[in-house]
Amino acid sequence: MKIGFIGAGMIGKALSTQFAKAGHDVVVSNSRGPESLRETFEPLGVSTGTVADAVARDVVFLAVAWRNIPAALESVDLSGKTLVDTNNPIVMPGFTRADTGGRTSSEVIADLAPGAHVVKAFNHMLSTSYDEGAVVDGAPKVLFHSSDYDDAHAVAQTLIADLGYVPINLGELITGGALHESPGPLAGRVFVEPAASR
Ligand SMILES: NC(=O)c1ccc[n+]([C@@H]2O[C@H](COP(=O)([O-])OP(=O)(O)OC[C@H]3O[C@@H](n4cnc5c(N)ncnc54)[C@H](OP(=O)(O)O)[C@@H]3O)[C@@H](O)[C@H]2O)c1
Repeated sequence: MKIGFIGAGMIGKALSTQFAKAGHDVVVSNSRGPESLRETFEPLGVSTGTVADAVARDVVFLAVAWRNIPAALESVDLSGKTLVDTNNPIVMPGFTRADTGGRTSSEVIADLAPGAHVVKAFNHMLSTSYDEGAVVDGAPKVLFHSSDYDDAHAVAQTLIADLGYVPINLGELITGGALHESPGPLAGRVFVEPAASR
């Protein structure tokens, strides 16, 4: 797939490099422009570009600290795109939950990206867990996805499986998203597929 990343920090780097290794065509972007990213990413097989370059791709990952998400989405048109929301509503420093008015973080993001088919995925584990690989002690790790769109679920499922993880569909953003966003019952843990299911 042609994948664009808005955000090239810890989670953007961990995921973009894995997708490039798996054969996807990946471009990463940030607010400072491609020159600031080239030296780090191009040796890893990941292209660098502007936010507009990233948004032009079929599938767009958003991997930006919570406080910067409104600015990151302010002038982009994601209508009709699959928007993979890797984010958590965390305010730093202090690691406290942002006030999202009683809604899940993905519902807030969906409002900021009108027309996008938002799927929450790749958000529940630390970036270091992706760096460590998809398998632990012979068991594949599990990644969750939630969305209000079947096509976005299908994209997430394919991308998760392409990296060697086991996808688990948790349903809609309002229900599933609440389970795997951080803080939440599934966040910050590594789950693996039990041997009996393999
Ligand atoms: N780190 C983890 O282990 C982890 C795990 C799961 C989920 N997450 C979630 O993933 C998201 C990103 O976390 P992170 O740890 O990767 O953060 P990070 O290391 O601070 O990276 C954030 C990236 O966003 C870019 N950015 C900031 N403002 C931007 C804007 N207006 N337009 C475009 N790019 C912008 C930053 O670059 P510039 O400042 O140069 O623009 C940077 O590349 C957060 O929502 C976090 O909750 C993180």
